[in-house]
Amino acid sequence: MSTTKKQPSDLACLGGRPLFAEKLYVGRPNLCARDKLHKALDQIFDNRWLTNDGPFLRRFEETLQEFLGVRHVVAVCNATIGLQMVYRALGRARPARRKALMPAFTFIATAHAWEWEGGTPVFCDVDPDRHLLAPDGAESKLDDEAALIVGVHTWGQPCRIEELEALARARQIPLVFDSAHAFSNFHGSRRIGGFGAAEVFSFHATKFFNTFEGGAITTNDDGLAAELRHMRNFGFAGYDQVARLGTNGKMQEISAAMGLCLLDELDGLLETNRRNYRAYREAFAGLPGLALLELDDPESLNCQYVVGTLAPEAPAFARDLLVDVLWAENVLARKYFHPGCHRAAPYAGREPAPALPVTDDLCRRVVVFPTGTAVSPDQIRPIAETVRFVMEHADDVQRRRETRA
Ligand SMILES: Cc1ncc(COP(=O)(O)O)c(C=O)c1O
Repeated sequence: MSTTKKQPSDLACLGGRPLFAEKLYVGRPNLCARDKLHKALDQIFDNRWLTNDGPFLRRFEETLQEFLGVRHVVAVCNATIGLQMVYRALGRARPARRKALMPAFTFIATAHAWEWEGGTPVFCDVDPDRHLLAPDGAESKLDDEAALIVGVHTWGQPCRIEELEALARARQIPLVFDSAHAFSNFHGSRRIGGFGAAEVFSFHATKFFNTFEGGAITTNDDGLAAELRHMRNFGFAGYDQVARLGTNGKMQEISAAMGLCLLDELDGLLETNRRNYRAYREAFAGLPGLALLELDDPESLNCQYVVGTLAPEAPAFARDLLVDVLWAENVLARKYFHPGCHRAAPYAGREPAPALPVTDDLCRRVVVFPTGTAVSPDQIRPIAETVRFVMEHADDVQRRRETRA
């Protein structure tokens, strides 16, 4: 049960009762109907086909191809391996070209996958309003060593696709999208998935659509799809024929089954996320010192992230204070993508250090709030009231916490 915070000592971090008895997470796993998955598991046992291009995987890929409106879906064990495969297929074809341009304001896997493939990420800044790769900044970093441009549909909002396409075309290098956040989202009348040379989705447990672990590469390029299918299976092109270097990127049957079962529930999951997004916007309206990221067209997006940004004039300690306060209240808000890829190992300290003022600023000010099926509008209101209380009494709360420590 939640209680309104009227004075600092009501806050759980200062001895009060937590707002919620149970923890509220960003990205608590969505589950399909249990009996459906049980039935699928029975089928998998009857088939005695657990992985390796089985019937569930094939049906999952075909269903996604139709859903996303793309020629090929190559399901994989997770998006990180999917990115590595795409990067290797498209970016390492010319080994002398080691650079991939990408935003620093993204999950670390976008960068690690390229570094893992022997490349060097070149970090670019994002725009302050939508947090997406700024094409102008990327253009200024393009040189003859650039192998790839990587756009990221951060928070599920389509990045500036046409401008990045024009840039990649002019330089004759491939454009890839990390679409980990963007499953089922639209760009205009088309779903994300068919843009650039390839896109990579994550179906990790914390994404609103999950396959336990998993992901999918999408492309309209027949040759690339064939290459990726071999690559996913150790490079095998037949039972005994290894055609190329490969890895083990396969998705298991049970994961594909989970994906098929959850696809049946997609409309409900989307509606829940959109309902929560609306409830957050309403509850946070006019809140001092913190603005919620406004999505361009929420009805065309999965709304799986509710992103707040503290005002630029907020004191330097305010974001971390807010997150600490919320955690004590069992509201497990997150500081994505602090500190920015460029300040994380192994990239931090590399010369020349990129100047990324917007990324640095966002990394200090962004807070992501719990949403999804485990959060209801009734819980969002007290979260907003607590945020309001902290923003209005930040200095006092900070002082009292320091005194208690
Ligand atoms: C932007 C982005 N890229 C890549 C990944 C990696 O996805 P996976 O966990 O499926 O490897 C994530 C995961 O959260 C992500 O947010």
